[in-house]
Amino acid sequence: MNRRREWWKDSLVYQIYPRSFQDSNGDGIGDLNGIRQRLSYLKGLGVDVIWLSPVYKSPNDDNGYDISDYQAIMEEFGTMEDFDALLREVHGLGMKLVMDLVVNHTSDEHPWFKESRKSRENPYRDYYIWKEEKEGGMPNNWASRFRGPAWAWDGSTGMYYLHIFSKKQPDLNWENPGLRKKIYDMMAWWGEKGIDGFRMDVISMLSKEPSYPDGELKDGNPYGDGQPFYANGPRIHEFLKEMNREILSRFDWMTVGEGVGVGTKEALEYAGFDSGELNMMFHFEHVELCPGPYGKWNVNPVDLVQLKEVLSRWQLELEGRAWNSLFWENHDYPRAVSRFGSDAPQYRERSAKMLAVCLYLMKGTPYVYQGQELGMTNCGFQKLEDFRDIEIHQVYEEMVGGGKVGHEEMMGYIHHTGRDNARTPMQWDDSAHGGFTEGTPWIRENDNYRAVNAREQMGRKDSVYAFYQRLFCLRKDSWVVKEGTYRLLLPEHPGLFVYEREWEGEKMLVACNFTDQWQELTVPGWTWQEARLWLGNYEEAPKGTGLRPYEGAAWIRV
Ligand code: GLC
Ligand code: CA
Repeated sequence: MNRRREWWKDSLVYQIYPRSFQDSNGDGIGDLNGIRQRLSYLKGLGVDVIWLSPVYKSPNDDNGYDISDYQAIMEEFGTMEDFDALLREVHGLGMKLVMDLVVNHTSDEHPWFKESRKSRENPYRDYYIWKEEKEGGMPNNWASRFRGPAWAWDGSTGMYYLHIFSKKQPDLNWENPGLRKKIYDMMAWWGEKGIDGFRMDVISMLSKEPSYPDGELKDGNPYGDGQPFYANGPRIHEFLKEMNREILSRFDWMTVGEGVGVGTKEALEYAGFDSGELNMMFHFEHVELCPGPYGKWNVNPVDLVQLKEVLSRWQLELEGRAWNSLFWENHDYPRAVSRFGSDAPQYRERSAKMLAVCLYLMKGTPYVYQGQELGMTNCGFQKLEDFRDIEIHQVYEEMVGGGKVGHEEMMGYIHHTGRDNARTPMQWDDSAHGGFTEGTPWIRENDNYRAVNAREQMGRKDSVYAFYQRLFCLRKDSWVVKEGTYRLLLPEHPGLFVYEREWEGEKMLVACNFTDQWQELTVPGWTWQEARLWLGNYEEAPKGTGLRPYEGAAWIRV
């Protein structure tokens, strides 16, 4: 192990969803110049790497995840000059910038697709996945991940094209070497500009099972689940090894893949230290726990014993073989404090800090999603019209329109797991719209911005923001946190998450109370006289015999 330690292992990554971060020109839409205004805020938090959700040219059917030009900036977000200035300023502050790479699909307005649909003989035809109808119907029964079928009929050439997401997001055909080359050239172009890596959208989905078999019917969905045939498909590792050889290996980049359908075994294949593919993967096991009969659309509380099992398994199975990504939130999941902690006013800050202790003292690269460092909560919009997400509207239409569930029940599901919970404007201060815009925001702000905002928290020593700052500062110098081994304690305890870390004889105990009740805590091998408090979310040190409501603390054995 003579290699230089990779920089991304010790970095705090902060995800920006540009549309909702900061508007600079009053049109209600966050933009690049808005991000530039907030760089010192990020630096002050201790951020090392900024990951930008897509800023490329896009008709915004799926908020930028439908790209019509990979080498242009979305007009609403600014210009390429603004981008270059942003990159310069990020670097000037000693931070790095990672872009989103969305290459499973493009927009249907991408010139490649416009060509592709012109005729069966068009040179770009094979850049996408076209199939003949089968027995008078679709090529197979696959569901779109946004509900409805995954195939769209194209009348002019009389064939179907595959779109695992919306109709306006046709899947690219990675079997085509010419297409792959174009993608690598595009990545190199951004590399030459000086970006510091990519977060790779649904990267596990690039290779499809060539026989396109029907999927199982489940979760009350009238269309079949194609995921077993498009996630971790037959050629995926060949493609990523090629991408690594051709492009990734040429730059000092950080790469993290979004791992739909990825468990620990698969993560080791994609991102094992010697896999020659990616640096890290995101898995979703912990944020998708306890599904209901309609899959992700449910109101189920999270079972702590299962949460501990999942997070611990990832710690243990990657140990010494691959590097974990630690995240609670992103733009596709509800707010962590609402889902795993408590957003009741008396517990919100305490539980938000406890969640940080619980996850970020594990081993891996920490990711924070905008607003998480303030303990921002789910949005609770009362009217369906206030939601903007295409997925929410499509599922509502299918489930309520289709008579499966009533309006109230569906709204409950949306409040619990809908993606817009994480997409409301960043809450900067207590002025109109939380200081996000001087115009009308593209999506309503969360009503609680007067109480929950960055300005208030930056001025207060016991805020969630200040706690995040402190935690990440301490983490930087702690080898037991960065490299120590992991051991779960009290696996069956229904209310406490307790684990131990160890590095060259130094031991750390981390204990978190996920309930609003006092919980007795006895840990074999630990006596409180020998333990020094390292970090805790109460002003007064723990009493030693138990944990107060939503208490989260770490001790070092001395
Ligand atoms: C990823 C993105 C999500 C998007 C989808 C399609 O899951 O995180 O926001 O809708 O891919 O690009
Ligand atoms: Ca704007």
